[in-house]
Amino acid sequence: MLVLGIESTAHTASVGVVDETAKVLALASSMHRPEHGGIHPREAANHHVDVLPELVGRALEEGRVRPSELDAVAFAQGPGLGPCLRAGATVGRMLSMAWRRPLVPVNHCVAHVEIARVLSGLDDPILLYASGGNTQVIAYARGRYRVLGETLDVGIGNFLDKLWIEFGGTFPGGPALEREALEGRELHPLPYSVHGMDVAFSGMMTATLALRARGVPRPDLAYSVEATAYAMLTEITERALAHLRGEGVVLGGGVACNQRLQGMVRAMVEGRGGTMFAPPRSLCVDNGAMIAWTGLLAHRLGVHVSVAASGVQPRQRTDLVTTPWRESPAERRVAAAPPPVG
Ligand code: ATP
Ligand code: FE2
Repeated sequence: MLVLGIESTAHTASVGVVDETAKVLALASSMHRPEHGGIHPREAANHHVDVLPELVGRALEEGRVRPSELDAVAFAQGPGLGPCLRAGATVGRMLSMAWRRPLVPVNHCVAHVEIARVLSGLDDPILLYASGGNTQVIAYARGRYRVLGETLDVGIGNFLDKLWIEFGGTFPGGPALEREALEGRELHPLPYSVHGMDVAFSGMMTATLALRARGVPRPDLAYSVEATAYAMLTEITERALAHLRGEGVVLGGGVACNQRLQGMVRAMVEGRGGTMFAPPRSLCVDNGAMIAWTGLLAHRLGVHVSVAASGVQPRQRTDLVTTPWRESPAERRVAAAPPPVG
């Protein structure tokens, strides 16, 4: 079984092809990099419209796949930036009609979870999903992924990107701050904002910029921000792991590429006798392969959408969509049972 997936939710346009063993046969991506400032949705969407046809061609060529060999076309329906989502959805609809293949809608966040889960080999891990727009601790229960904790303001990646731009850099800020932090020597106390299972970053942003204005060196600030922010994420992940008595943790989203974050979460999980897994960089950041893989899981259960009903959903939360492929036989029996009488 082969599925082609299209990712276009934010800065990256990407097309991937996977088979039923989650082998990535092809992955062709292009990231929109603004010269100044952050991402402008319209400009990013224009970039996606320009590059997607070529990315489709490259993916088919790289995977040595003919359209007639594909079983379905999957696209990221949400969440994301409206114009960017529409660019990918339009290409997905066109290919589905032209190739006469079913169209499969995929939630972008669930796709980050599923690719990390299959690569980890863990059946029911807790997921720390740390990306630009999202910061969530997720676990599966009764038919869908549940968000156990999340950011109360911005996603951690957006926070890192914005901070780096304030420091005079360009998007993306996360990898640049990671390099800068390696030179950091002094840890400056910053607001550690954990509220139960939730986190917040705006206080840390204000405090860091105030320290910068007082002349604290950038590497020390990058180091302090990483140490503080990643400790917050590790804490809420540990609480989920402890309460659910989980077997392990998988990381997903662009910030999950960060070596310090990986090291901190790994130390915590292994200290509890569990397993930690982070996908390789190409599958941690936004990519078409994770859309294709999640599309394949959905397609196997006949989850398709008509072109007319395939509108994008910029605010489609992780816990809004069902994930029938995760249901155990017992859960299916409950769902299929008639409602109790009386
Ligand atoms: P989502 O819609 O899932 O929020 P996204 O659009 O943010 O996705 P991703 O590719 O998952 O896209 O993540 C991009 C983010 O990851 C950016 O904010 C970037 O700065 C951050 N990032 C990438 N590499 C690193 C790194 N090594 N350390 C920290 N942050 C990183
Ligand atoms: Fe993402």
